[in-house]
Amino acid sequence: MPAEKREIDTPAFLVDLDAFERNLHKMQDFLNEHGVHLRPHFKCHRVPEIATCQMEAGAIGITVAKLAEAELLVKEGIRNVLIANEIRGEQKIKRLVTLARGAEDLMVAVDDERGALEIAHAAKAFDAEVGILVDVDVGMGRCGTTPEEAVRLAKIAKGQAGLVFRGLMGYEGHVQKPPPSEEKENACRSAMKALIDAKEAIEAEGLEVGIVSAGGTRSYYITGCYPGITEIQAGSYCLMDLASKEGGGDFELASTILTTVISRPAPDRAVTDAGMKSIHPACGMPKVKDRDGIEATGLHAEHGILKLDPAVKLAPGDPLEMIVPYLDGTVNIHEKLYCLRGDAVVGTWNVSGRYCST
Ligand SMILES: Cc1ncc(COP(=O)(O)O)c(C=O)c1O
Repeated sequence: MPAEKREIDTPAFLVDLDAFERNLHKMQDFLNEHGVHLRPHFKCHRVPEIATCQMEAGAIGITVAKLAEAELLVKEGIRNVLIANEIRGEQKIKRLVTLARGAEDLMVAVDDERGALEIAHAAKAFDAEVGILVDVDVGMGRCGTTPEEAVRLAKIAKGQAGLVFRGLMGYEGHVQKPPPSEEKENACRSAMKALIDAKEAIEAEGLEVGIVSAGGTRSYYITGCYPGITEIQAGSYCLMDLASKEGGGDFELASTILTTVISRPAPDRAVTDAGMKSIHPACGMPKVKDRDGIEATGLHAEHGILKLDPAVKLAPGDPLEMIVPYLDGTVNIHEKLYCLRGDAVVGTWNVSGRYCST
């Protein structure tokens, strides 16, 4: 392992551990103050060691998007896992109920009757119990049932052997992107109102709704204060990226990609060794850390294109750090993360979950 940042071969994913730790505690402290749990999303880093840090800081479990991520976490000893996504297909449901037998508390999102019944059928056959959160579409337009239909699904889940109805989830993904504003706050509150209305309608039928799960890095400060929300699923807050910062995630940018300038073909142009295979372009261009007059203008497969102000001094071989624009996609194309304290490399984390997409 290299001892110093300058010895790391590039492109490489760097984590500023001091900033990471401050982010970890800032989110947990905020939610503790508001009496809300944190069940952080794994998809944004896919590193079991980070999930362990989040649990040690006070998280009650981990949220995942994929069954394979849940399998990895249970194997790594994290046995309280919410799959905040719909799981369908015979093979997957068999994997799900098998996993439920080895986990302490495994929950999965459900948004239709047939999905619930298929899981119940397999759970009975495998003598397993699977926790169910009914997934409500609170305006994002992805998965999720209507708030009205949630009542019927909750009753179905409650009445099936093999299923344990635990509550609701409703991810307000459509309000994440806009920067903080009154409009964003109102949109977020109206999404949470739909979720809490569904909770109250289910309770009116005599069912207990123990969990109401929602929230992301760019909405936690609104969703986490909304009465009735019991937990937040934010994930990007610990490593952070530009998209999360722009959307109001008030955390430190703890992740960068270390690159090397490989060419200076024109006075106003430099080229680095980090293109799309090192920096995911879904949320736009990276920013150059701690350097003025350099703008990232393009990401080719293997090359990063930079536009330079005339005064900028930059030579082939020079290192540059690029702030990650989209963490979720970027971490998934790296094998490991280098953990730094200042310029000292103090460890590495394998992105063990990077192929966990089934
Ligand atoms: C269902 C769900 N919950 C929570 C999150 C966490 O979002 P973030 O990484 O912005 O905190 C996501 C991210 O896409 C998500 O899809």
